[in-house]
Amino acid sequence: MTATDWIPQGIDRAEPSAARAYDYLLGGPHHFEADRQLAEKVLTVLPARTMSRQNREFLHRVVAFLAGEGITQYLDLGSGLPTLGNVHEAAQRADAASRVVYVDNEDAAVAHGRCLLGDSTNTVMLQADVREPQSVLDASPTRQLIDFSQPVALLMLGVTQFLHDADEPRELIRRYREALAPGSCLAIASFTWDNDPDTMRRTVEMFKESGRTPIVPRTRAEVLDFLGDFELVDPGLVYAPQWRPDQPDAPAARSNLYAGVARKP
Ligand SMILES: C[S@@+](CC[C@H](N)C(=O)[O-])C[C@H]1O[C@@H](n2cnc3c(N)ncnc32)[C@H](O)[C@@H]1O
Repeated sequence: MTATDWIPQGIDRAEPSAARAYDYLLGGPHHFEADRQLAEKVLTVLPARTMSRQNREFLHRVVAFLAGEGITQYLDLGSGLPTLGNVHEAAQRADAASRVVYVDNEDAAVAHGRCLLGDSTNTVMLQADVREPQSVLDASPTRQLIDFSQPVALLMLGVTQFLHDADEPRELIRRYREALAPGSCLAIASFTWDNDPDTMRRTVEMFKESGRTPIVPRTRAEVLDFLGDFELVDPGLVYAPQWRPDQPDAPAARSNLYAGVARKP
């Protein structure tokens, strides 16, 4: 892939993209000026670089855990760009036969994602809205790659903040959980109020005023509710850096993100 192969025909570089802004925050190469401006605006109120790093590091640890549990199929809701060690890279490093369905509703994320994935057969980029579980679960790329009679890893990392109360997030996540076989896991990383409520209040306000999709941080109890009757694996729902850290002796860092994994009994 050359330096520009990730850029599809007809992309509007002036329209900021959440997925490209996230790539910028992660230190990746896939962004334009409008995305950098969006990310810099978020950085005026939120430690978004630290949070993005914490989120991506959690993703790596969680996929290694899930692969270790023998899971080889991943449904990644709100995936962003398939780069910088995203799910298929981590999962297929552990088991080359792992299959990944990335789901994003943003035109740019999907267009770039398809360029980046090329003719990969085990990984697809599905354009769909997480808030419509049936259309995600019934989409033909999902049905082709995921065998719902076997354990699946359902990933909701850095996306639940885009689900508003009117979307009935508890109910829609329940519908995903219901579709999964026993032994499946739901991994979640969710913005929270609990660590630094003042910063989160300013961030919510900023998103509201900017005309972008508003964000909804959650309390610990609300995130636990998303997991329903799935059983939390150790160490439970914790601040993202505290979930099975690579260096367990490091001082426990806090975060504006809760992270956890729960298994379907
Ligand atoms: C923070 S980014 C990617 C996070 C990625 N899962 C990770 O952990 O590194 C969140 C992504 O969610 C996508 N997104 C937001 N709302 C969505 C929705 N309703 N349906 C599908 N994707 C959505 C955005 O387009 C964006 O690419």
